Amino acid sequence: MNSAGRRPVFLSQSRQQSMAMSTEGQENLANVRLPRITVPPHPIRLELAPREKEALKERISSMLREQNAVLVAHYYTDADLQDLAEATGGCVADSLEMARFAAAHPAQTLVVAGVRFMGETSKILNNEKRVLMPDLGATCSLDEGCPIDLFTEFCDRHPDHTVVVYANTSAEVKARSHWVVTSGIALPVVRHLAERGEKILWGPDQHLGRYVQRLTGVEMILWPGSCVVHEEFKAEGLVKLRALHPEAAILVHPESPAEVVALADVVGSTTALIEAVRTLPNREFIVATDAGIFNKMHQLAPDKILLGAPTAGEGATCESCARCPWMEMNTLEKLARVLETGEGEIHVAPDLAARARIPIQRMLDFARTLRR
Ligand code: 13P
Ligand code: SF4
Repeated sequence: MNSAGRRPVFLSQSRQQSMAMSTEGQENLANVRLPRITVPPHPIRLELAPREKEALKERISSMLREQNAVLVAHYYTDADLQDLAEATGGCVADSLEMARFAAAHPAQTLVVAGVRFMGETSKILNNEKRVLMPDLGATCSLDEGCPIDLFTEFCDRHPDHTVVVYANTSAEVKARSHWVVTSGIALPVVRHLAERGEKILWGPDQHLGRYVQRLTGVEMILWPGSCVVHEEFKAEGLVKLRALHPEAAILVHPESPAEVVALADVVGSTTALIEAVRTLPNREFIVATDAGIFNKMHQLAPDKILLGAPTAGEGATCESCARCPWMEMNTLEKLARVLETGEGEIHVAPDLAARARIPIQRMLDFARTLRR
């Protein structure tokens, strides 16, 4: 139950991560020394004049058409990129839908505005196509915090476990796993595996893993990774904000810490949170996920009032302030440049792609059975 006595619902089907040490056995968290992750600073942007921006968008649209290319963007990217993706026949979506869209679309070039694992997933599913990204340096703290050598050692120590990894991982880590999941499908996959009597090793996001454990009752061994953006949300600040807005519904992405998730009215993938704003009767919402999502929420529910969940308070670093510094690397200017130059192409070795495709395809096939 949350502070208002309401039970959280799951509508859909998530600084420096310095030397995180944890104890195996305690909460089943792996005893792994994670690599040091350098979080890039927020970029300083020079806003283009409206006429210049329109001209740039026009130029990008023409290049997309000429190159038989489609733009696939995540909800956390800049609003201009999201709008352009939809205006040019592409899509704005969560990571599961981005993978599905890329797999089904006939375009010869996929331009993925998001973070690197999203571009890699598109390439793995479409090895014959060209996949471009505005900035190949756009990674993710979960991906960086789960290097293949350490992860392989961890899996090898538990050979009787089914390895389930979040999509926010490298192609190598996916290739070492049995299942890939996104936040939109993690619960039914874990339930399905538990029904088959399988023991589960989960990586890399410990918070999502803990949330899945709590809702399914399935014990899993967890990799101790986390998202630097969602980890900054603070339960104490959230309680205070809720007191000022008692009618607001609290929406939380399950990459957030357990004490923040515990206060939520809705916990879910980015799509599930957007759906909650659109369909719930509340007028106000407190949103604990990347602020880029407000663009789609405002579009679909212009009358609703959206408040960002607090990241300030004790222990605050505000390295993200609810904006993913890697998602922010995607800009219209960089998008135009990769279309002009062909730079920013994602390459995944064909044999690696073939191995990584198996657990991704397993997820997509499973998702299809849920839709029936
Ligand atoms: P979704 O799968 O909900 O889009 O989340 C991806 C992500 O990176 C969240 O931080
Ligand atoms: Fe990764 Fe977090 Fe950014 Fe999502 S918000 S891409 S999980 S760092």
